[in-house]
Amino acid sequence: MCAKPIKKEPKQVETTGHIWDGIEELNNPMPRWWVWTFYATIVWGIGYSVAYPAWPLITGATPGLIGSSTRADVAAEIARVDAANAEIKASLVAADLNGIGTDPDLAAYAERAGAAVFRTNCSTCHGSGAAGFEGKGYPNLLDDDWLWGGTMEDIHLTITHGIRNTTDADARYSQMPSFGADELLDPTQNSQVVEYVLQMSGQDHDAALATAGATVFAENCAACHLEDGAGDRAQGAPRLNDAIWLYGGSREAITASINVANFGVMPNWNTRLSEDEIRAVAFYVHSRGGGE
Ligand code: HEC
Ligand code: HEC
Repeated sequence: MCAKPIKKEPKQVETTGHIWDGIEELNNPMPRWWVWTFYATIVWGIGYSVAYPAWPLITGATPGLIGSSTRADVAAEIARVDAANAEIKASLVAADLNGIGTDPDLAAYAERAGAAVFRTNCSTCHGSGAAGFEGKGYPNLLDDDWLWGGTMEDIHLTITHGIRNTTDADARYSQMPSFGADELLDPTQNSQVVEYVLQMSGQDHDAALATAGATVFAENCAACHLEDGAGDRAQGAPRLNDAIWLYGGSREAITASINVANFGVMPNWNTRLSEDEIRAVAFYVHSRGGGE
């Protein structure tokens, strides 16, 4: 009887024919587990690209059968947050303007939402925060000096309709004459009134010229800037008897303001922001800027 061989004879495997230094390259088949895994990835890949957005086309990708879209997910998330805020937005719109601050929930929401609206829409012109802003012609909203008024009603109206724009018929409007350029004052009267403005704002000035300038001021300027230079918010005419300037308080800057009048424009926001956003940002500005 022939004993069974203990070891199986190794199956004769073909070589690929490559030999290096006597080492032959066998042409063994791939392990079965490997081959099946490889096929599985192909099947999975095809399945994935059918189910999910995958292949780039000219205007977008193939949408995929199960309609997955991260864009739609974001939109749904935004809609969810909007729905969650709908109630508080509605009460913000319904609230009395001066009552917002007395309701803690409303005030907290208006503060947060207002800060976000301000960062996105207002800081380009008005500066971003507590440091204020030195941009010529762009008022610092964080001080308590107001051109058009600092109550909630005033601020709300300013933001809603804007200032001197051509897009909202209810925009705040006024126009200072160009006293120099239009020869409403002669050069002597011009320099007199400049010295008078320097005097009323507590700066170095020529006393003799300023005395003469007081008359020029009373006749030409007091109608808008008031007798003592306190300014008139009904006309957006700035206070001149303090140290806060929109266009600069030096002799040169004041002379320039009188020669060719400024015409500061702010857009109306009623077409860009919703009422709750306008109220939130009005509350934010009011609570920062020494609101009245
Ligand atoms: C394109 C620039 C610009 C943007 C953006 C802008 N403003 Fe203004 N804003 C101005 C100018 C300029 C004035 C001053 C106009 C003038 O000379 O009377 C002004 C004035 C104001 C005033 C009146 C200040 C006062 O002293 O009475 C308020 C309030 C105000 N802006 C709020 C806002 C808010 C809130 C936003 C954002 C929603 C905003 N502004 C966005 C340019 C801008
Ligand atoms: C019809 C109203 C009106 C009259 C009259 C007028 N102003 Fe003005 N003045 C304004 C307004 C409005 C502004 C602000 C313009 C702006 O915001 O763009 C202004 C701005 C100024 C400024 C710049 C203030 C700053 O903060 O930078 C000075 C200075 C000034 N006026 C001086 C005078 C003097 C001096 C006279 C008289 C010779 C005069 N104004 C007459 C309405 C008037």
